[in-house]
Amino acid sequence: MSAGRILAFFALIAGISSTQTSDCSYSGLVNYLNLTNGLLTMIRPVRNWTDPTSVQLDVVIYGILDLDEKAQSLTTHIWTQMYWQSEFLTWNSSDFCGINMLVIPRSILWTPDLTIQEDTSDTGTVQDSPLITLFPEGLVSANRHQRLTSTCQLNLYLFPFDTQHCNITFLSFNYFADGVKLGCNQSGTSLTSLSEQLMATQGEWQLVNISIFSYSFTKQGVSRSRLTYMVSIRRRPLLYVAIFVVPLFYLLILDLATFFISEACGEKLGFKVTILLSISVLLLILKDMLPSTEDTLPVIETVANEEQGRVNLESHFSLDLPCDLSVLRQILEEVKAARQEAEGQGKARRNHVCYRRLARIIDNVFFTFYFLGVVTFLLCMYIIWIQCSMHSMH
Ligand SMILES: *[C@@H]1O[C@H](CO)[C@@H](O)[C@H](O)[C@H]1NC(C)=O
Ligand SMILES: *[C@@H]1O[C@H](CO)[C@@H](O)[C@H](O)[C@H]1NC(C)=O
Ligand SMILES: *[C@@H]1O[C@H](CO)[C@@H](O)[C@H](O)[C@H]1NC(C)=O
Ligand SMILES: *[C@@H]1O[C@H](CO)[C@@H](O)[C@H](O)[C@H]1NC(C)=O
Ligand SMILES: *[C@@H]1O[C@H](CO)[C@@H](O)[C@H](O)[C@H]1NC(C)=O
Ligand SMILES: *[C@@H]1O[C@H](CO)[C@@H](O)[C@H](O)[C@H]1NC(C)=O
Repeated sequence: MSAGRILAFFALIAGISSTQTSDCSYSGLVNYLNLTNGLLTMIRPVRNWTDPTSVQLDVVIYGILDLDEKAQSLTTHIWTQMYWQSEFLTWNSSDFCGINMLVIPRSILWTPDLTIQEDTSDTGTVQDSPLITLFPEGLVSANRHQRLTSTCQLNLYLFPFDTQHCNITFLSFNYFADGVKLGCNQSGTSLTSLSEQLMATQGEWQLVNISIFSYSFTKQGVSRSRLTYMVSIRRRPLLYVAIFVVPLFYLLILDLATFFISEACGEKLGFKVTILLSISVLLLILKDMLPSTEDTLPVIETVANEEQGRVNLESHFSLDLPCDLSVLRQILEEVKAARQEAEGQGKARRNHVCYRRLARIIDNVFFTFYFLGVVTFLLCMYIIWIQCSMHSMH
């Protein structure tokens, strides 16, 4: 072997060992990337300002905490992961002992200023991760989780068999669409299944679907990039069926049954007033829960109202919807007084057989119409509730 070859061989060994003992510390990489340079916090990481930064989002829903019908808002617990590309922060991992991921404080890098349009939460509910992750190809990843209270236009017509669609719209405070472009990485279907797996609390609501819309919105000549997650949730109706629907139908049947009580024994009126009171209590509870701004009343409230209206008619009272129980109590007193008066007069008069027959005919006609009305009403409710809730499932 010639001396030259030996020298070359040693040179090769030295070269290999020098790459093997290349900088294995994070500080070497940090110095290489010039991360201590203050410019990195200030400017969008592109070399040519005309290139937009594409920010990709993944939103996972960890919990559906509450849906407030009165305030028309939805409270969720969401986890947002953001990715974007930095043109300044690339390295070759084989130069750095195979380091393929670097975790650094968020505060030393530029981050997109994203906000949620429907957000009405307190500021304290957002938690940005204090750290941020870099990958060799220049990919940057940041996380945040938050308890989000978002406004949501609710449609309660099918209550309690309703499905609601609430939007969560991301946009940048300051950058236009030529600066920051929003997009999504995973499809709505995979986010839905991921959320279903991770969901800790759903309570009354069941997640049906998350669908994603990404678009530019132009206003006053400037266009902004937006990303909308439409979250569809379905109410679990069992509780409401137990505490509203079943009692309401029970009262409806009782009400029909009162036609068969004879007027002679004087129980009829008291019985009807009792039903009126029961329905009013149900209505009061419903009114406490549902918003008064609804253009279309929920079907269930219509049923209760209709039934209450009819019982009122029967009792020869016309009154507005009672606002509180003391009014009802007063009505009860008046009804009792009226009954006693009627009984007193009844003793005084005799032989009103003719009137009584007329009253019975009117009663029977009324019963027939009422019965037909109830049947039609139940059919309509069946169609609206069952068909529409079947439809919304597909
Ligand atoms: C770090 O700064 C030096 C000197 O300003 C420059 O030559 C080098 O390219 C920078 N490194 C990176 C990764 O940008
Ligand atoms: C910056 O981008 C624009 C549009 O893509 C291109 O026309 C221009 O040449 C680029 N400038 C540089 C210095 O690369
Ligand atoms: C990284 O460095 C190794 C060795 O120096 C080289 O073979 C490889 O092509 C480089 N990779 C990239 C992406 O530059
Ligand atoms: C939610 O977003 C979608 C897509 O942009 C839109 O069609 C829909 O009207 C929005 N819904 C509400 C309640 O704003
Ligand atoms: C998008 O998702 C795929 C598969 O889940 C993943 O491999 C890829 O890294 C993601 N893209 C970004 C920019 O995170
Ligand atoms: C979920 O939404 C997507 C996008 O709108 C749609 O294609 C899909 O059929 C929906 N899935 C269900 C189960 O509703």
